[in-house]
Formats: sequence, C-alpha cells, structure tokens
Amino acid sequence: MNSEDVKQRSVDAVYFATECVNEYVSTINVRHVFPTKTALDGLSNFDEGLPQLSSHASIVIQQLHKFAAPATVATTGGRYFGLVVGGATPASMGAAMLNAAWDQIAILEAASPAAIYLERIAAKWVLELLALPADSSVGFTTGTSVGNLVCLAAARNAQYEKLGVNLNEVGMAGAPPLRVIISEQAHITVYKALGLLGFGKSQIIKIPCDKEGRILPDALPYIGNNTIVCLQAGNVNSGASDYFEQIIPQANAAGAWVHVDGAFGLWAAASAHKKHLLAGVEYADSWATDGHKWLNTPYDCGMAICRNPQAVHNVMTTIAPYFTEDTVMPPKDMVPEFSRRARGIEVWAAIKEMGSNGVADLIDRCCLHAGKLSKGLTEIGYTILNEVQLNQVVATIGNTEQLQEILSLVQEDGECWFGSTYWQEQHAIRLSVSSWATTDEDIKRTLNAIEKATNKIISG
Ligand SMILES: Cc1ncc(COP(=O)(O)O)c(C=O)c1O
Repeated sequence: MNSEDVKQRSVDAVYFATECVNEYVSTINVRHVFPTKTALDGLSNFDEGLPQLSSHASIVIQQLHKFAAPATVATTGGRYFGLVVGGATPASMGAAMLNAAWDQIAILEAASPAAIYLERIAAKWVLELLALPADSSVGFTTGTSVGNLVCLAAARNAQYEKLGVNLNEVGMAGAPPLRVIISEQAHITVYKALGLLGFGKSQIIKIPCDKEGRILPDALPYIGNNTIVCLQAGNVNSGASDYFEQIIPQANAAGAWVHVDGAFGLWAAASAHKKHLLAGVEYADSWATDGHKWLNTPYDCGMAICRNPQAVHNVMTTIAPYFTEDTVMPPKDMVPEFSRRARGIEVWAAIKEMGSNGVADLIDRCCLHAGKLSKGLTEIGYTILNEVQLNQVVATIGNTEQLQEILSLVQEDGECWFGSTYWQEQHAIRLSVSSWATTDEDIKRTLNAIEKATNKIISG
C-alpha cells in the first residue's frame, strides 16, 4: 500500500459514509421510532464468525447502513420521549463527524491544541449558561454518571483533608467514616458512584422527600464537616429540584461538601422563565451534568464541574515521564480517563449554533411541549402524577395491566416511543421532552397515537 492508497481508502469511506448519513437524517421523521420486527430480524446479517479476509470499507459501511441503521431507535427525530434523551443539534452532529475524522486525543495541548482550546471555550460558555462560578473546572466525561463520580471523589478527599486525614496515604481502610446525606429519590448513578468510592450503606443517610421527589429540608439530620450532601437538580421522573436555597447555606456553614446531580435539570438555568426552579444551586461545591441530554449534543458527553479545581486535580492527576506538562490542569488530570475523545468540541458547536438565546428557547420549547402533552393526556382521561414545571410528564390511567397494554400498543405502532415508571406508588407512563427536533406536529401525532391505543384498551 502506498500513500495514495491510504488517502484514497479514507476518502472513499468518508464519501460513502456521508451518503448513508444523509439518507438516515433525511428519513428520520418517517421511520418507526422503535424498529420494526423486520428491521430487528435484519440484525442477524451480522451473525458470522471472526472474518479472516479483509473487506473494502465501503462494504463494511454498506452493511451497517443496510442492516444496523433500520434497527436503530430514532432518538434524533421529534417523537422519542424515553429515558431523558436529547437529539443532536445539526452543528453538533456535523462537529461529531469532523471530530471523528480528526480523531483527536484530548489529553493535553501537545496532543491536540485544537481540542484543548475549544474545550476550554466550551467550558467557559457552559459555566455562563448554567450561571455557575466562572472559575470552576469543567471535566468532559462520558456522562453524568462519571461526572458524579469525579465530583464525589473530589468531595471525599477534600473532606478527609479537612479532618487531617491524607486519604492517598492511609486509604479508605485507614480512614474514619464520612457521612453522606442523600435524597431517597437520588438517581441510581449517584449511589453507584458512592459505592465505587468505597462508601458503605451504613455511611449513607437517606432523606425522605415530598411527592415531587424533593428532599424535605426539615428532615435533614446533623450536618458537619465530615459530611457530603448530595442534592438533585431535575428528578428523573418529576423533573423537580431540591430546595437549594434552604439546604445549601446550612451545609456550607457546617463545612460540608454539597454536590448537585443536575444531569438535565441544571439546564433550566439557561431559561429566564425556569431559572427560579434552581435558586441557590450556584452555592454548591460541585455539579454534574450532561451535554447529551438537554444541550442536545451527540452521545456521549457529560461534565464534572467543581468550584475548587484543585480538589479535582488532587484526585485525578497523572504524571508520566514521557509527558511534558504544557498545560495548567490539562484534561487528563481532571477526569478518570487518560486518553479520551474531544467531546467538548461538540459542546462548543451546539452552543455556537444556538447561542444563549437559542439554548433558552430549546429549554422553554421542551417545557411548553411537556405542558401540551400533560393537557392532552388529561383530556384523554389520564391522571398526571407530577407538577409539570419542566420537561417531564408522568401519567396514569386504568389498572396496571391496561397501562402496560396501552404502552405496548403505542411502542409497537412506531409513531412515538416512551417508557413506564413507578411513581407515587402507581404504575405510570413517563415522557421526557428533551429534543430540539420536537415540533407541535410531533406532540399532536404523539397524543393521537396515545389516544388511539388508550381507546382500544380502556373502552374495549
Ligand atoms: C438525574 C440523573 N442523574 C444521572 C443520570 C445518569 O446520566 P448518564 O446516563 O449521562 O450517565 C441521569 C440519566 O438519566 C439522570 O436523569
């Protein structure tokens, strides 16, 4: 193979892939949101043993386009309301394609000046949009799960330091237990992060919540300087946020570390109409959030944000003799990964494309659509189980079996997709409106699909 072959092979592959991407994005809104049985059966075309012979890149891409694309879930269209899944804004999708071609390693400046430069600007913009302290650190992670892990690792070591314990020296086995105060409605990934960091169940104090899933401030126990308080911006079911203004000042005064899991809810800060829901959140010590949810960057993209960058650096730093440290607190020293892709470039692209007005508009539109879904569902006969203040709608009708049958009918129909949950001791459907691509027409089509299925099951 000569250098002309190397070039031609890459050019051919990219050309072919671009054609396939064009076809995919231009048909997204006419696809079944969840793949059809035929499309799922097509996946068996991948069943083969380890190939011994090489294939031309165009053959490989063609196979993906022909058999994997139809079995994808149309999350970048306007009618996917499952989990909390944003679409991908056009510029961030395009940036992800460039990013793939560039294949940068976001470790330090010597490895990729462009990645480090753009991620630094993206970080600054994110802090401004979220109204968080401008000199906080922002580490780009795979998602909020790892964002929580980074922040809680920093919290753990910093709290031990306050107690005069050098955790790096004595390890968890030699350290006195810290106390972790956490909402009984905290997201499962916060519990996972705590477990990974060596916190046992006996150290974790769960606080009861109101019916929206907000910690009851009066139920808080003693908070001291041996404490980490985990709060939440945006409950995964109701969308509600904790009462930061009531809780954070007393935790700060006691010397506790306050961490906020704000996977999607933190983005309410970008909207003049919604930011009051987060009043006081800026006084926390750390925050984790996602790009791939409400900012609508492609997967995967999360952020670990910390008021005291040194606290993160202390737990994440790596020193290798084959590196010249050319950057203050380079990305490799602020997240668990050493090598990672430059996902902050897509954050930069999404914000550059929308501007702060456009991000505010995205948040407001999703909330308006959630309100319309809530109203439409009520008209069909559903009971709404949450206060629809943000982008989440939880609703129920009939008995558990009927609800499940309605859900299965809607999901099989392919017009839209959402899942189920258990909320306020009732089985319910749960819709999260998180995509820039959702239009009024999508909301109408979704309500029509739900009404059709509901009438079939409830009225027989
Ligand atoms: C409140 C909350 N925290 C954490 C997470 C985990 O985020 P990720 O899947 O990006 O790791 C989610 C995901 O839905 C969430 O809603």
